[in-house]
Amino acid sequence: MNNINIEEIVKEATLQIKDANLESIENIKVKYLGKNGILTQILKSLSNYSIEDKKRIGSITNKAKNDIENEIELKKETLKKAMLEEKMQKEKLDYSSNFYFPFPKGSFHPIIQAIEDISSVFKSLGFSIAQGPEIETEWYNFEALNISGNHPARDTQDTFYLDGAKELLRTHTSPGQIHVMEKQKPPIRVIVPGKVYRNEASDATHFSTFHQIEGLAVDENITFVDLKAVLSDFIHKFFGPSVGIRFRPSHFQFTEPSSEVDVQCIFCKGKGCNVCKNSGWVEILGCGMVHPNVLKAVNYDSEKYTGYAFGIGVERVTMFKHGIDDIRLFFENDLRFLKQF
Ligand code: DAH
Repeated sequence: MNNINIEEIVKEATLQIKDANLESIENIKVKYLGKNGILTQILKSLSNYSIEDKKRIGSITNKAKNDIENEIELKKETLKKAMLEEKMQKEKLDYSSNFYFPFPKGSFHPIIQAIEDISSVFKSLGFSIAQGPEIETEWYNFEALNISGNHPARDTQDTFYLDGAKELLRTHTSPGQIHVMEKQKPPIRVIVPGKVYRNEASDATHFSTFHQIEGLAVDENITFVDLKAVLSDFIHKFFGPSVGIRFRPSHFQFTEPSSEVDVQCIFCKGKGCNVCKNSGWVEILGCGMVHPNVLKAVNYDSEKYTGYAFGIGVERVTMFKHGIDDIRLFFENDLRFLKQF
């Protein structure tokens, strides 16, 4: 018995392992490493050799045994993986086939779609998205926003108070500004979309639940020009590049100066129609420069930082965009209406 033979045996085994499948690999294992396997036989026959040969042949044979064993294990792993892969491919569902599905295809509610569309415009302008709670305290909903206990501005937001009047359903998304500023230091560019609630009788333009998207930017050197640029960009991306925009002076407690923004009626191009109530313009949002008292409420240095804020009425812009004349349609779940979106 010489070394060449063992090398030949290993070579031959390697070739067989290469072509093996999961069944034949077991036979190969028995053939070379089994009780009566080729290499086992060699080891058994060592007693016939001189001590020197015993050592030499024994060590090469043991190495060959280990090598073949490793190769077999590796091959087994590869074969098992391939088998699993094949099984998964076979069991993969073909979603393009016309299998039986007993439910009609759904779609997102038009308000959710609008929130997604508006959010993606602001995301492209570098804003991130935050959420605020729908149950607030008076401090977040009013006081931190510079609306004190007996200020007449509270009258315009009829509020649902909860047990003990300590908590309330937020009347606007503006408290989201406070939550964000409490958690973060400037620079801030964020929008806060969500539901708001007011204790109002419903009619074609009022409902006790609706949606707003709050916007807030705070940094050094922010001016009204930044506010105008961002809102104009949003309006042109949402309503079309040539639509007219008008900033009208207004009043909000939490901004100074404040403004309301009108968009030229997209249906009559400003000539006057029933959508714009013959005015040629439709109001879509309120905005302004963040009032220093609001910055102080969250312990920001109001000498160092300035900012702007805005609040978009989601139902309002959606009604305008699609020429919908009754806000209640959004909440009635009538599929004849919802299927159009
Ligand atoms: N919170 C106001 C409302 O519900 C809307 C609003 C106006 C939000 C001006 C703002 C703003 O952030 O700057 O009527």
